[in-house]
Amino acid sequence: MICGEKIGIRLVESDEDAKIIVEARGNPKVMGRYCPPGIVTKNHLFPEKPNGQQNYVIVRLSDPTKVIGEVSCSKGPFLIYNIGFWIFPEFRHKGYCVEAVKIVADYLFLVVNTERLQCETHIENKIAQKTIEKIGFQKEGVLRKSYLINGILSDMIVYGLLRTDWKEPSYLKS
Ligand SMILES: CC(C)(COP(=O)(O)OP(=O)(O)OC[C@H]1O[C@@H](n2cnc3c(N)ncnc32)[C@H](O)[C@@H]1OP(=O)(O)O)[C@@H](O)C(=O)NCCC(=O)NCCS
Repeated sequence: MICGEKIGIRLVESDEDAKIIVEARGNPKVMGRYCPPGIVTKNHLFPEKPNGQQNYVIVRLSDPTKVIGEVSCSKGPFLIYNIGFWIFPEFRHKGYCVEAVKIVADYLFLVVNTERLQCETHIENKIAQKTIEKIGFQKEGVLRKSYLINGILSDMIVYGLLRTDWKEPSYLKS
């Protein structure tokens, strides 16, 4: 497990972890109105996939046995990594997501050959936007009519965090 101050993250490592994620991603009460229900299978979640997909569960350091959310990253073209995240409703607004994504960003910039992390969010998902900006991502633009949810095409905001924006690790210091 990689530890921050309040939370730790670790790769999905058991069927139980995978079950929690599969159920949460398909649950509108967890994903909210701006994230499409995920079609994800257990096999997709285990680490070291050749496509660069990594799924981390988030736990509180005070109770590392209980999963409180997920950060996922997947390799895109040109050394880009896409980042996604969610937290169970009862654990929100405590700074857990910002901490977890910052740890993943530290790991990707320190260990993996990437120059750019990217996040995308529905134009109305204001809490996700605040979260992404608090992590340090910059808003780069709006892709119009590019986010399909519940049969409606909406605008999507694209954010980027470059190695030069990141500057130094927040948590993974030697
Ligand atoms: C977006 C989400 C992951 C944020 O997780 P979180 O752990 O609650 O976020 P944090 O506590 O780290 O909060 C980061 C910032 O977001 C804002 N924020 C978070 N929850 C908020 C709330 N309920 N009301 C207003 N602002 C809020 C705050 O600015 C906060 O910083 P602050 O506490 O210093 O003011 C969570 O709301 C979630 O799972 N939403 C549903 C799924 C989703 O939308 N995922 C993102 C897809 S792009």
